[in-house]
Amino acid sequence: MTKLADRYPFPAPEGSHWKVPQDFDVTFNWDYDEGRATMMGLYRKGVEMQWNAETRIDWSQELDEDNPEQLPEEMLPISGMAEYEAMSAKDKARVRRHFQGWQISQFMQGEQGALVCAAKIVTQVPDTDSKFYASTQVIDEARHVESYKRLLEKFGVAYPMTPPLQELIDQVLRDSRWDMTYLGMQVVIEGLALAAFQQIRDHAQNPLAAAVNAYVMQDESRHVAFGRLALRDYYPQLTQKERDEREAFLLEACYLMRDRFDAVEVWKTLGLDPARCAEHMYDSGFMEMFRSSLFTRIVPIVKDIGLWGETIRNGYEQMGIIGYAQADVQALQDADDTIARDFDARRSYVQSVVDRAAALEPA
Ligand SMILES: [Fe+2]
Ligand SMILES: [Fe+2]
Repeated sequence: MTKLADRYPFPAPEGSHWKVPQDFDVTFNWDYDEGRATMMGLYRKGVEMQWNAETRIDWSQELDEDNPEQLPEEMLPISGMAEYEAMSAKDKARVRRHFQGWQISQFMQGEQGALVCAAKIVTQVPDTDSKFYASTQVIDEARHVESYKRLLEKFGVAYPMTPPLQELIDQVLRDSRWDMTYLGMQVVIEGLALAAFQQIRDHAQNPLAAAVNAYVMQDESRHVAFGRLALRDYYPQLTQKERDEREAFLLEACYLMRDRFDAVEVWKTLGLDPARCAEHMYDSGFMEMFRSSLFTRIVPIVKDIGLWGETIRNGYEQMGIIGYAQADVQALQDADDTIARDFDARRSYVQSVVDRAAALEPA
């Protein structure tokens, strides 16, 4: 089988391995007391809700030839653009395959970022209960890399990590303050991921693509809950100046996510004008929906963890996203869990029909 990286239209700039220098203390904790009840509850849930990507997902399902995830046309950010509309059916199918493959590639690459960050949290965080919980997240993230990799193999195309995502992960990993790994990964990047996965989970008619995203999201919403718990306890202890630094980082990250995730690598690879495509994409219904989903996942958490000083409030006001602070994240997290269970129920129903039909067949 061809290696996934051999399908990149251009090689990753740093070659086959990306190395990020680290400068932080690994912290042991000699206090083995009970830990916070909420954190230990989350840890227990993390242990109990482990699943096996090999068996929970039916990998015999295939993607669609012309529209791999069977997404509505408006989910392609350049649909409606003259150059795209003038293409033959075959060329349009190629654009869909590349854009969707690029997205799943970013999911897979981002999941590796999450895997590394979760492992960093285990070693760096001072509290034992947080170390316990984060260890369950490490295996979750490995399973997510595995799941997206298997899905991506069915696309026939794959992309290296997009520069804005790499920039964000690099910044988070280089920072030696333990809470910055949480803030960058558990709040910002997980929020970004939840928004992006949700688009596929809720709009893909392809059962395999929808199921992979539903199951991954069930875990991710637990990860965001962890970030909230850990940071909500920590930030009130910091000085306003220290909180301001975090708020400035959050603001910058929100601009980056809003303005820079424009898939230019895809458009370049397909011979389209990247600037034209990025411009069309920015105003598309797809991006409007994505931004709304993104800020719904992030802004209320930022408020909840107590990074709600003047810097961030003014900044969010200017971005026009302060209203998202009212969003009910708990309801969203509950839905992420219920939807994944619905996918399980559907699969076992289909299996029972198949089994019954097989039993009725004459030997
Ligand atoms: Fe993940
Ligand atoms: Fe995660």
